[in-house]
Amino acid sequence: MSGEYKPGLEGIPATQSNISYIDGQQGILEYRGIRIEELCAHSSFLETAYLLIFGELPTAVQLQQFESDILYRRRIKYRIRDMIKCFPESAHPMDALQTCVSALGMFYPLTYKDFHDPQYTYDASTWLLAKVPTIVAAFQLMRKGNDPVLPHDDLSYAANMLYMLNEKAPDLEVAQIFDTCLILHAEHTVNASTFCALVTASTLNDPYVVLASAIGTLGGPLHGGANEQVMQMLEKIGTVENVGPYLAEKLARKERIPGFGHRVYRTKDPRAIVLQRLVEQLFDRLGHDRYYDVAVALEEQGTERLGEKGIFPNVDFYSGLIYRKLGIPTDLFTPVFAIARTAGWLAHWREQLSDNRLFRPTQVYTGRHDVRYTPLTARSGRALQ
Ligand code: ACO
Repeated sequence: MSGEYKPGLEGIPATQSNISYIDGQQGILEYRGIRIEELCAHSSFLETAYLLIFGELPTAVQLQQFESDILYRRRIKYRIRDMIKCFPESAHPMDALQTCVSALGMFYPLTYKDFHDPQYTYDASTWLLAKVPTIVAAFQLMRKGNDPVLPHDDLSYAANMLYMLNEKAPDLEVAQIFDTCLILHAEHTVNASTFCALVTASTLNDPYVVLASAIGTLGGPLHGGANEQVMQMLEKIGTVENVGPYLAEKLARKERIPGFGHRVYRTKDPRAIVLQRLVEQLFDRLGHDRYYDVAVALEEQGTERLGEKGIFPNVDFYSGLIYRKLGIPTDLFTPVFAIARTAGWLAHWREQLSDNRLFRPTQVYTGRHDVRYTPLTARSGRALQ
């Protein structure tokens, strides 16, 4: 069996899905048919997560139950904290998160593994949405030598996340801005990490492993890891005056500008548009950050140079500026992305299970045939290629 080979499976549908939709030409993103801008204006992250996973906006009773189930599942067992204690302080938080999430199945086994039982997917979803932020925050405090703080029962999902990281509850507006960031990162059709989640889901492994595999994929610099690189780049550029020379040098060396470009969008990413507004709102409240001016200049000059190729700022371009102002360290940007994307991965996991078929693509073989075995003594000392 053979077919046309497309590197990166570009343009090849990997699944049928009714979870989210992108119009890359017009810069439209919808979750379950609702425009992202509308959800950002009216919804909350947990309500959006419910919409993504279960297909409809919840009723008031359903939402209250969902929020309360997540609230009471936020804590992690002390053995998980002990495990985190053993991680090197220099570990990347994404590696720590991936390890802990894959271990969750040992601590919170979903023993009744009936993939068609709605209770099974509901429990898996609430366990994971509840515990991923607690793990991220625990690693952050413990690598500094501190004890993790317990989740705060009186705080919303977003406010509690910031509280667990900074040991201080944010004000309402700040928590709201962070909550909107989570909505914006919650889902984005079948990208690399979601595809990875689908493949693992199709083997019928448990949802913790599904999520752990997706987290591993999200961490790469061409995917979710780009937000970290954007902040490092803005710091390196330093001033608005340096933007032009930096850009010229990078492009002359044919290097990529982190936070620019997207496989699907040929416009500015609609999420980057909302995020830029949120940056301004947050800076009005908490004070300006000079790197925002650098980012704006970079967007302007980068668009002049790259716009004709359809390369514009993506979701990672402005998010780091918000996280930095919220006291989130740079290497935690991608774990925060993973917290939000947990909703989307779970939605795709559930959808995959509803009509599962094991992923087993084919390949175009480019190797040799009928090669005779050469005895070790007869081989010349060629370097590995
Ligand atoms: N900076 C400069 N030039 C770029 C960039 C960039 N960030 N992205 C693409 N280009 C150029 C390419 O060099 C190429 O130019 P050429 O035709 O002259 O050779 C052209 O645009 C098309 O590039 P492709 O490789 O076909 O684009 P692709 O769809 O594979 O790239 C990707 C998508 C990987 C995201 C790319 O834009 C990139 O590397 N961006 C930087 C990393 C980044 O920000 N990633 C986050 C993406 S969003 C997310 O995953 C959450």
